[in-house]
Amino acid sequence: MNQAKIIGQIKKLRTEIEAHNHRYYVLDNPIISDSEFDKLFRQLQNLEAKYPELISPNSPTQRVGAVPLSAFQTIKHKMPMLSLSNAFNSGELRDFQQQIFRKLSDENAKIRYACEPKLDGLAVSLLYKNGQFVSGATRGDGNVGEDITQNLRTIRSIPLHLRETEIPAPKMLEIRGEVFIKKGDFQKLNESQLSVGDSPFANPRNAAAGSLRQLDPKITASRPLSIFCYEVGISDGVEFRSHQAFLEALPKWGFAVSPLIEFVDSIGDVMKFYEKWTENRDSLDYEIDGIVIKVDDYFLRQKLGVRSRSPRWAIAGKFPAIQTTTKILNISVQIGRTGALTPVAELEPVEIGGVIVSRATLHNQDEIDRKDIRVGDTVFVQRAGDVIPEVVKVVLEKRQNNSQKFKLPQNCPICNHAAIREGDDAVLRCINAECPAQIKRRIEHFASKNAMDIDGLGPKIVEQLVENGLISSVADLFNLKKIDIVNLDRQGELSAKNLIESIEKSKNTTFGRFLFALGIRNIGEHTARILSEKYPNVESLKSSKLEELIDIFEIGDIVAQSIIDFFADQTNVQIVDACLNAGIIWKPEEKAEIPQIFEGKIFVFTGALQQFTRDQAKQMVRERGGKATGSVSKKTDFVVIGENAGNKAEKAKKLGVKILTEEEFLAIINFVRKGIE
Ligand code: IVH
Repeated sequence: MNQAKIIGQIKKLRTEIEAHNHRYYVLDNPIISDSEFDKLFRQLQNLEAKYPELISPNSPTQRVGAVPLSAFQTIKHKMPMLSLSNAFNSGELRDFQQQIFRKLSDENAKIRYACEPKLDGLAVSLLYKNGQFVSGATRGDGNVGEDITQNLRTIRSIPLHLRETEIPAPKMLEIRGEVFIKKGDFQKLNESQLSVGDSPFANPRNAAAGSLRQLDPKITASRPLSIFCYEVGISDGVEFRSHQAFLEALPKWGFAVSPLIEFVDSIGDVMKFYEKWTENRDSLDYEIDGIVIKVDDYFLRQKLGVRSRSPRWAIAGKFPAIQTTTKILNISVQIGRTGALTPVAELEPVEIGGVIVSRATLHNQDEIDRKDIRVGDTVFVQRAGDVIPEVVKVVLEKRQNNSQKFKLPQNCPICNHAAIREGDDAVLRCINAECPAQIKRRIEHFASKNAMDIDGLGPKIVEQLVENGLISSVADLFNLKKIDIVNLDRQGELSAKNLIESIEKSKNTTFGRFLFALGIRNIGEHTARILSEKYPNVESLKSSKLEELIDIFEIGDIVAQSIIDFFADQTNVQIVDACLNAGIIWKPEEKAEIPQIFEGKIFVFTGALQQFTRDQAKQMVRERGGKATGSVSKKTDFVVIGENAGNKAEKAKKLGVKILTEEEFLAIINFVRKGIE
């Protein structure tokens, strides 16, 4: 082959491979399989190995990571990378608009805003000369950053050349964006960090920053980094009138842009965007710590100008932080209703996400060992939604010299009975069923809202009742007299009367609630309800066999075994009987009306099903008004395929019959079920 031909072939392969990278990493819409991609990639690698003089730093083969550096060089940004001032509430967002009005001397200026998610990652600047990626840097002090070109080249969603568009490639173009790690990728990264004995990252932001600041680009290449681009620095050879026009050019050039960006014409609509994402931030698969509001019109931006470090035309609307650092004052041990000893960090009170937090769960000994959490440590603490706050990571630099490893006690701190770990269970348990702490927790659970719903029976009164020997099991609640309660400290006639009435009222319940209230290990509300739909009463459930239980859809062997174990214990049986003798009653469980979504539809199941048995699948279809048959024909509406589905799937394809995976089939069923619950 002559030189020109080889150059042509290499160029063609590079263009093709980059196009596939772009489809895969930016558009999330690949059109070839991984193995086809690998084949193209290897062809290029082979050619480059044969003609090393033709290797260029922007070849897709160079994305795997160049040789390690000994230190980062610095890069001066062509235009400074500014920071943003912050607004923490709607008042401060309105002030932002007022300042704009003032600066423009126009109180009625019509301003269009871009509303963007504020990605919680690391800002980078990418420099393209004549369409070629030449260098990339961190923000640094805003004027000078670190040269992380080699590392940025490993991020597949960063184009190494601008894709061709109707806009000619500018002479010089700086694109700013945020490098981040998706939540799912972060979990996996931390699992692999742990598996090789490395310390996990506190949060996706730290992981992204740590990955980009590696001297060895091969390490960066192994990290799942993503980028969204959002601003322009220098642009020599192209001019935009508005942010919207700029953002529209970005994907054409091959950059990834957040799909959540909206343009609005009033600060009221900005506020709606802020509220929407304050509420829904958890639904995204990457972290955002606020929104960014930007004036759309570039001419107006110029008029508004910049302060020393931040522009007047943009502001960050910050969400309340969900993670912060504080100090562990002590570690206490709580006993749960199943006897689990749970270590709890007592914290120096700190505000997280608008709530004062003073305790965080440490889960179990393994978790403490893994994170090496000690009394006196400064730690990252986080909370998300309603979940219990968690200690994420220790700030080792702040550890006191005399700190000691923390070990859970070998005996229950309440009843002093031995605490043990069963099999490979991570949980240490007090195995004394008479342990007063366990009894109290069981009674609290029995009385709770979604169980027997006994109004007025909270932890304080349960504590008093147990400590005074008035009750020692849930069944004893039904023998309580008003006088017993009146005689307790701080309890009056009225509260005693109300409590007795609530206990009485609670007897009228459902079997599902009662089952859940019993606190059988591994039986949550949902499972209790499934059981109550299959069994009309305790007697029938008690006499069911393990195999029979396992056969129920959604009941696995752990749950089934828990039920068998519970009824094998005579104390439990006595308590249940005593409750029933006290007059607990329920109407036969009303089966949830199942919507007939498959009315008249014909299904075929084929291949090795992983999520359910064939009989269960057929039953699910029948219950919803459909029919399940054995062979595929023109009349078949859906074919659900398991693993290694063969002829039937082929036939369905030929006949144009809709094919569903097991997951898709379940998703349809679950979606409808959620809708009616
Ligand atoms: S614009 C002058 N847009 O927030 C404009 N920044 O606090 C400066 N960030 O350093 C940046 N998402 O790391 C902009 N959609 C977005 C952003 C964003 C996250 C970060 C960026 C910046 C910091 C400013």
